[in-house]
Amino acid sequence: SARVRVHHLQQAKERGEKWAMLTAYDTVSASVFEEAGIPVMLVGDSAGNVVLGLSSTVPVTVDDILLMTRAVTRSTKRSLIVADMPFGSYESSPEQALATAVRLMKEGGAQAVKLEGGVRVAPQIRLITEAGIPVMAHIGFTPQSEHGLGGFRVQGRGAGAEKLLADAHAVQEAGAFAVVMEMVPAELAAQVTKELAIPTIGIGAGVDCDAQVLVWPDMAGFTGGRVPKFVKKYADLRAELLRAAKEYADDVRSGTFPGPEHSFE
Ligand code: KIV
Ligand code: NA
Repeated sequence: SARVRVHHLQQAKERGEKWAMLTAYDTVSASVFEEAGIPVMLVGDSAGNVVLGLSSTVPVTVDDILLMTRAVTRSTKRSLIVADMPFGSYESSPEQALATAVRLMKEGGAQAVKLEGGVRVAPQIRLITEAGIPVMAHIGFTPQSEHGLGGFRVQGRGAGAEKLLADAHAVQEAGAFAVVMEMVPAELAAQVTKELAIPTIGIGAGVDCDAQVLVWPDMAGFTGGRVPKFVKKYADLRAELLRAAKEYADDVRSGTFPGPEHSFE
């Protein structure tokens, strides 16, 4: 079937149909998720943590995202591929943001871009959108601002609710086609979802968002160590790969691999 387009996501909201987004960073994960019918994939800068071994998304570069975006876009033909704009690649000016977005589209083959922030990045969203590039916004907890926000904290509690609502309306007004809400109280996320015409995508934002997103190595149990409270583990891939790697190493040590069926005469 044909490529998912942003207007399909808008129609889904109007019909009350929820959908799931996952991150993807390489050809294997992208092809599995497309086969699973995941309509939208994000080449997220969460790759800093789950692919590149960094302790935050802050050091991730445009070239890092481009490499992974190329792998994902080559490996998919139906899912809509969104490339994340890394820290430092869009904040300075709308012109800087547009230049980065153009690279992600031309060199990466992405069909949309995502950036973090609400009111403060509205001019960026407007210019990129006017250039014909769909923009996904990201408000609430924004990991690139971890240090400014004082760590991983729920956003929009108490007086923060007004800011969250202002950010949500600002990104819609600027032309965003969808908005990720991360670590926002469920009731507030439900209110935003009702007030906005564009789809909301929750991560730690309750069940009433129009869509959900998770970082795939977290949801598949591939990530080592602790995962955030909002993650549901749908598999234990780490244990399965650990078992396979150990069994392979045992077989090599004992001389049971390779067998005759793996060898050439
Ligand atoms: O980088 C990422 O994976 C993200 C999602 C969590 C929305 O921004
Ligand atoms: Na991100």
